[in-house]
Amino acid sequence: MPHKQLDSPSIVVLISGSGSNLQAIIDGIEAGNIAAKITAVISNKQGVQGLVRAEKHGIANYVLDHTKHTDREDYDQALKNLIDQHNPDLIILAGFMRILTDSFVQHYHGKMLNIHPSLLPKFKGLHTHRRAIEAKETEHGCSVHFVTPELDGGPIIAQRKVAIAKDDTETTLATKIQKEEHVLYPLCTKLFAEGRLLLTNSGPTLDGITIIEGGLDLTDTNEL
Ligand code: GRF
Repeated sequence: MPHKQLDSPSIVVLISGSGSNLQAIIDGIEAGNIAAKITAVISNKQGVQGLVRAEKHGIANYVLDHTKHTDREDYDQALKNLIDQHNPDLIILAGFMRILTDSFVQHYHGKMLNIHPSLLPKFKGLHTHRRAIEAKETEHGCSVHFVTPELDGGPIIAQRKVAIAKDDTETTLATKIQKEEHVLYPLCTKLFAEGRLLLTNSGPTLDGITIIEGGLDLTDTNEL
């Protein structure tokens, strides 16, 4: 079933650091592969590289410092207010290192994506590369999922895999995975922007077809 294409969808990206995934999405938009615009980049940390990237591309950027808020609810309320000033169709978490309150997450149900550096549901949380090596996994990867209140537990949209080599370290594996992230996240963003990717009551769908549990394997897919 065809879906209505969003009318020039707008995106707000939340970051805490380097913003290399933000950059990959900016590049996808500027190359004409993603029919959307980023209307704001918000960081909870000052002075991070992701803010420099936003500025360089003429994107409004903000620091909303969590240490200046009394508690998580107070911070998330301020964050929601700032995001909603931009009335986005999509919120992208790109290395935003904050646990979000349930009410914040529910407010953006079906319109907030996250990328996680593991083949979810394996290795939720931090230090995923180290844990994958320690667990003697032979493959590892990254996942894009819709955000729900369970940390790194929302319905998986798609994954890309890499083989773990015998001599891989946490650092070499991180580099390999980031390369995959920079393909996977722009692809998922494009699908959402085109109205092809939805979160329905029976899970995520692509072009009206329910995505299998565990997500699509897009390891060898660079275009969709
Ligand atoms: C990525 O590895 C992503 O999987 C995780 O945080 C990291 C962000 O990196 N959620 P960057 O800021 O996009 O470079």
